[in-house]
Amino acid sequence: MQETSIHSSPPYLEHRFATQFGETVQFDHPLAASGMGARVSGIDLCSPLRSAQVDLLLDTLSHARLLTIAGQDLERFSLTAFERFANHWGAPVAHPSNFLRGGKPAQQDSESDGVVKFLPYADRRVAVADTVLPGQVTCLPHESPAVLVATNLLGQDDRKEFRLKDGGTWHTDIEYEPLPIYVSMFLAHHVPVARDTPNGQWVKPPVDAGPAPYFPGSDDELMTLRKRLPLNGETAFADTAAAFAALPLEEQAKLEAVQVRRRLNAEDEGWLAPLVRMDPRSDVKSLHSPLWASRPGVRPPVEVDGMTPAESRDFLEGLEKYVLQREFRYDHVHTPGDVTIWNNYMSLHTSPPIKIGIKHPDDARLLYRLSCKGAPSLVLPRDDDPAWVTKHIPGGYRSPESIVGAAS
Ligand SMILES: [Fe+2]
Repeated sequence: MQETSIHSSPPYLEHRFATQFGETVQFDHPLAASGMGARVSGIDLCSPLRSAQVDLLLDTLSHARLLTIAGQDLERFSLTAFERFANHWGAPVAHPSNFLRGGKPAQQDSESDGVVKFLPYADRRVAVADTVLPGQVTCLPHESPAVLVATNLLGQDDRKEFRLKDGGTWHTDIEYEPLPIYVSMFLAHHVPVARDTPNGQWVKPPVDAGPAPYFPGSDDELMTLRKRLPLNGETAFADTAAAFAALPLEEQAKLEAVQVRRRLNAEDEGWLAPLVRMDPRSDVKSLHSPLWASRPGVRPPVEVDGMTPAESRDFLEGLEKYVLQREFRYDHVHTPGDVTIWNNYMSLHTSPPIKIGIKHPDDARLLYRLSCKGAPSLVLPRDDDPAWVTKHIPGGYRSPESIVGAAS
């Protein structure tokens, strides 16, 4: 029954963890009232995983929507090991902040054509992060274009438009391409421990500065929900599987028929994508990116097939308001050593308000992110069709043999 799988992961998963990883593994679920989230501890991701172990982790995410594999040894767990692990979930995607397209920054510019040039670490914007608290908080060595460093070790001028200090816009990762991102994952290295604001939290509640970074014109209730973000550096999530399951069957059926037109650029014809997806492992249905304009100024708003632009906005902002209700929200607390994976088809997320211009390690927030597209793979290296990689992965990136080993 879908009802039980939405609110709590199936009990047999716990037995499978004991079988596959040993009796000392701890499995906690759910992490949120909606049923979202599972946490496993006692798994060392420095060691390669067996197929049956990967299969279990994939099954767990397909039910829980978000999975934390806690307690990695940060002295040993390298970004190479992290990227190798990510390859099981899909093909790692080069992040737009790590390459130029047609000689221009790939994220800010809406053009989607042009030769992709991967930037060496020293030429990336994030390289300046290592000069903020030298010897205290620095990035792990890496050159992979798939690794995104999410940190507040950057000044406001160094940050991308949609990663503002007052929190980002609600979104799913790379929903604007024909093949969206399936999972994203964080490896947490540093999290802020300072609680020195008058409200006893890491940051003060942001001052209401109007609709930015959203477009103006949304109703007040929606704006309040959008901006109700955690204040201790947690990543904010909304559970679009639980939100879908809570709807009357008649409403679910209507939404399952909805297609949205997505475009890379406003003048493109774009393509139709389903609003409701079904997870192929768990059969759990969820809303995928039920948002009108999650990247204002970067990607055009979406349109619902058969609706005018104004009707599309009304309809999708109504859904966003529904999904951002407290019962579907979950603020995920990061702990150093945690690998946290989320399914972008089954959730929304956004970055929290952060302190910038920090001077003390207690204020440092340093996470590494990898995102993956396509089908999971129980064994490595992956066996992706080269034509598929060229079509869906910027620059045709593939994790090299030094990360995933050689094909046998
Ligand atoms: Fe994101």
